[in-house]
Parts: sequence; C-alpha cells; structure tokens
Amino acid sequence: MKLKNKLKELNKMYKHAGHHKKMVQIFLLICVTVVMELLVVAYITKKIINIEIPNNNIKGLITYSIIYIIVIAIQSYMVLKHCDMRCILQRIMQGELREKVFNKLQKVNLKFYDNNSTGTILQFMQNDVNNAGGLFPDIIVEMYFMGVTRFFIIAMFLMFIDLKVTIMLVGLYVIGYLVTIYFNRKTIKDLHQIRELNIDIYNLINEGIQGFLTIKTLEIIDVKIKELDEKLEKFVDKNKNVEKVVGKYNSIFAFITSFAIPLIIFWSGNDVIKGLATYAEIMLLIDYSGALKYEFNWFIRHITDFNQAFIAYSKVLKFLEIDEIEDVHKGEKLENIKCIEFEDVDFSYDNNQKTIKNFNLKINSNEKIALVGKTGSGKSTVTNLLCRFYEPTSGRILINSYDYKNFSIESIRKNIGYIMQDVQILPETIIDNIKYVNENITEVEVENIFKKLKLHDKIISLENGYNTNIFDNPDILSSGEKQLINFARIMAINPDVIILDEVTSNLSFNTEMLVKNAIEQVTKNKISIIIAHRLETTKLCDKIITLQNGEIII
Ligand SMILES: Nc1ncnc2c1ncn2[C@@H]1O[C@H](COP(=O)(O)OP(=O)(O)OP(=O)(O)O)[C@@H](O)[C@H]1O
Ligand SMILES: [Mg+2]
Repeated sequence: MKLKNKLKELNKMYKHAGHHKKMVQIFLLICVTVVMELLVVAYITKKIINIEIPNNNIKGLITYSIIYIIVIAIQSYMVLKHCDMRCILQRIMQGELREKVFNKLQKVNLKFYDNNSTGTILQFMQNDVNNAGGLFPDIIVEMYFMGVTRFFIIAMFLMFIDLKVTIMLVGLYVIGYLVTIYFNRKTIKDLHQIRELNIDIYNLINEGIQGFLTIKTLEIIDVKIKELDEKLEKFVDKNKNVEKVVGKYNSIFAFITSFAIPLIIFWSGNDVIKGLATYAEIMLLIDYSGALKYEFNWFIRHITDFNQAFIAYSKVLKFLEIDEIEDVHKGEKLENIKCIEFEDVDFSYDNNQKTIKNFNLKINSNEKIALVGKTGSGKSTVTNLLCRFYEPTSGRILINSYDYKNFSIESIRKNIGYIMQDVQILPETIIDNIKYVNENITEVEVENIFKKLKLHDKIISLENGYNTNIFDNPDILSSGEKQLINFARIMAINPDVIILDEVTSNLSFNTEMLVKNAIEQVTKNKISIIIAHRLETTKLCDKIITLQNGEIII
C-alpha cells in the first residue's frame, strides 16, 4: 500500500476509534515527561562538569543529586499515569470494537456465514479485534508518541549542543530508516500468510472440538493431527522467515549506526581540543546519540506489531462496512400466520445454479405438510426461504395472501418455530433453558409442557428436578430426551407455524416414540412443515411433497 493511502486509511481508523481527547492528553503527558527528563539531565550535567567539579563544590554536587532524584520521582509518577491511561484506553477500545463487531455479526445475513468459516470468524473476533483495539493506545503511542517524539526532541537538544554532529547523526538514521522500509516490505507478505494460517489452524481446532465424535468414529484422528502439524510447521516457518529478515536488518542497522560514536569523537573531540566545546558537551553528545539509537530501535521493534494491527483494523473496518445486513424491523408487523403460499419460487445460492425451481405450494391453516426427498434435494432450503434467511430469486412467498416482504423479518420469525435435530443446551437449569425463550412463562406452564412431552416424570425423578443443570450433567438425558428441550422451547413460544427439520433421524426405538408424541403435541392445530425420512412421521401429515433437485415431483 502506498504511503499516502496508508495515511488516509490510518486517519479513517483514528476517526473511527474515537477518544481523541484522551489520546491528546496521553501525547502531551509523554512530551512533558520526555522534555523534563532531557532538560534536567542536560542542565545538571553541564553544571556539575563545568562548574561544581572544577570548584571542588561537594555541597553543589549533593544539591544537584537531590534535584535529580526529585525530578525523576515526578517523571516516574507521570510515566505511571500515562501507562495507566493507555492500558485503560486500550481495554475500552478493544471492548467497543468487540461490541460493534458482535452486533454486526448478529445483523449480517446468512450469506456472510456461508462465505466465512468458523475459524475466520473466530480469528476475526479474537485476534483481529484485539490487535485493532491496541493500534492507537498501545502501538501508535509506543512507536510514534514515545519512539518518534522522543527521537525528535532528543535531536532538537542535540542541535543546540552541536548542529553539524546532529545533522550527521540524523543522516545516519535516515539511511537506517530506508533500510528498515526495504526490510519491512519483505515481511508484509509473510505476515499476511501467517494470518491466513492462523485461520486454518483455528478451523482445524474448531473442527476437532465440534466434530470430535465424527472424527473419532471415522478414525481420522491421525489424519487431522497430521493436517494440523503441517499447518503449524508452515506457521513456524513463516514466523522464522520474518525473524530472519528482522535479524538481518538488526545487524545491518547496528553497523550503520555504529558510525555515530567515531563521528562524535572525531568532530567534537577536535572542538574540545580547539577550546570550542566543553567536556560536558561531548559527554552529552555521546549520551544523547545512545538515546537516539535506543528510540530508533524502539520505533523499529514496533513496526511488525504496527503492520499486524493495521491489517487487523482494516479488516475490522471492512467488515463493519459490509452492507449485507438484515434490517429485521423493516416492514409491517405480522400478527399471525393463517396461510402460506409459495408462488413460482426459484432460488439460487450463487445466482447461477437453481437450488429451488418453480416451487408452488399452498398451506392452509392447521395443515401439516411432509417434505421428503433425497439429501440435497432442497428441503431445508424451502424452509430457509420461508423464514426469510434467504429470499426467492424469482417468484413470491405469500403469507395471509400478502407478499411476505411486506412484513418485518422479526415478526415473521417470531411466528415460526423451527426445530432442528441439534439441541443448543445452555449451561443452566432445565427450567432456565426454557425461560431463555420466554421469560414470562411460569414454572407450572413449563411443567405442563413437559407433561405433554412425557418427560415430566423423568425430570422430577432427578435429584434437583427442574433445577438440574443438564449442561454440566449431559448424560442425565438421552439425546432424544434432550431433543425434547427444543420442542418444549417452541411450545413455550407457541408460534403459528412449526417447521421440523429431520428431528427423527438417529433415534432409538424408545426415544422415537417419545419424539413422535412430541411432534403430535407441537404441531397440534398449527401449520406444520415436517421434513422427514421416516414413513411413520409422514403418516401424521395431510400432504406429502416429494422434492427432487429442487422441484416438486409428486
Ligand atoms: N448455504 C448454502 N450455500 C450454498 N449452497 C447451499 C447452501 N445450503 C445448501 N446448499 C446446497 O443446496 C442444495 C440443497 O440443500 P438443502 O440443504 O436444502 O438440501 P436438503 O434436502 O435439506 O438435504 P438434507 O436431506 O441432506 O438435509 C444442496 O446441493 C446444497 O449443497
Ligand atoms: Mg436439510
């Protein structure tokens, strides 16, 4: 990226990050701390070497030592203060960014999740947001406020002592800076690759945890471990490359800047011999040139961090600017659903291949539809369209005879209860797992729901009854019984439409009966769409629709 564009982007980030007053306060505090330290050291050194020592004045030496200690104590307090301010600001900025990103993640439409893996999102949420939040209060302060500001203030002090030596020293550092830019460019590509590898590693770890059972049953643990090893090896290699470049740069830079001391010895030593400069001045020059080198190194050391944080902030801004968001409140409020009609609906996930073709279906009040078909035939897609996770590419979906785009997404979804095979159990009690979807529901109502689901007796037989934490004791309920939590939640909301997606897969005979009863209970007097493999389940329905490659064949 060109410097001009980089500065433009940085300015945009600064405006976005906010807290400008705090940043200015930190900057001023650092400037005052630096100037105070340098002024006092220069003043005391000159006084001691030029006046107090030649005059054998012990009292003067003691006085200056005490002044020095007092100034350093004040300065230490100021350092503590700005470090505190920076740390707090960093936490605040990271928190604010995380909140903005999280809010946006809730609003983006499903396409975003289709196009980004869990690893990408996790890397983004954890590493990028953390790095981006540290860009201004941590890295910019360290690099520019402390490194660069101190460098220029020291250079200014040097100028007052010896202009020509200062010009030579700054010249050396300009060469050093050009060398830095050259080496820095070499690491950018590797840093990008390190970030991508990080995402892959996150994905593999996530897959390993979430898909633990699948990996174990497929006996592919070794394959996965090998895959992770390869990624980690590459990750280490790339980091080694960056370190190698940094190492090379360090030695070249040390060589260039090593010319500083001989230059001072030669020029200023000559001036002292000629009586044009004092011993104190040559001492200060040597001392300050060391400080210049320290500050420059400080700046350089933070370049990699700066690049990482800059890339991270760019990603965050780019993500926050995504306009693929769902405005779930836009449109009229849908009070209830009496009938649904799919009218010549076509749909494509990629605007190319049609997943749903010419789909026509009318579902009246209290009607139960079974949706069957081979895997990949488009059954879940039909229900995704109804919930407006996606919208038809052409054709219309009507609710109560109106195009459903007239109604707010929020009110449509509130009227639809979607039950899937997977159960998201919260780390809370059984009762709280139900109250989570409807906080106003009473304990008696929850008990009645579980009575209908034929799970009440089992729950009250548990030591803590409805207050059992099923997250911490996952084996207390079988997988089919746990699935009833999903049914209970939907019954606690009591929506007009029920969608059941493959809820009868992978069930034992006993739990199958339990789930069959649950289906009967939850779909009672409701419009229901039941995606099912089992003949038994389809028997409960009024109509069976068979899908093949996105088309209704029967
Ligand atoms: N988010 C998505 N992005 C792109 N393609 C998708 C997406 N979801 C599903 N598909 C594709 O659309 C087709 C229909 O998928 P869908 O999940 O609707 O099938 P299904 O009938 O529910 O299958 P199953 O019985 O396996 O659940 C498949 O080819 C699938 O790969
Ligand atoms: Mg499906």
